[in-house]
Amino acid sequence: MALLQRVAEQGRRVVRFTLDGRPVEALEGDTVMTAMLTNGDRLRRAEFADSPRAGFCMMGACQDCWVRTEEGERLRACGTFIAEGMRLLSTGEWTS
Ligand code: FES
Repeated sequence: MALLQRVAEQGRRVVRFTLDGRPVEALEGDTVMTAMLTNGDRLRRAEFADSPRAGFCMMGACQDCWVRTEEGERLRACGTFIAEGMRLLSTGEWTS
């Protein structure tokens, strides 16, 4: 179930990516955060409490929105635009 529901501005180009291996779609110009939360209920799980995280400040200051790609890259979801073919993860262990 998606945490965010898109209610306006749906006329942009569709961008396809995967979330935990599942093919999903966002719109061009969406941040990774918007793309993930319109297709799921979290960005990741907290390292220490195993609770779901969905970002906090939305402006690059709090570091609560780090997500991983299948390639092992770390992205700050609130400050990174979604791109065609991204392979994002909201699950798994953080090693660094
Ligand atoms: S939500 Fe705070 S840095 Fe991204």
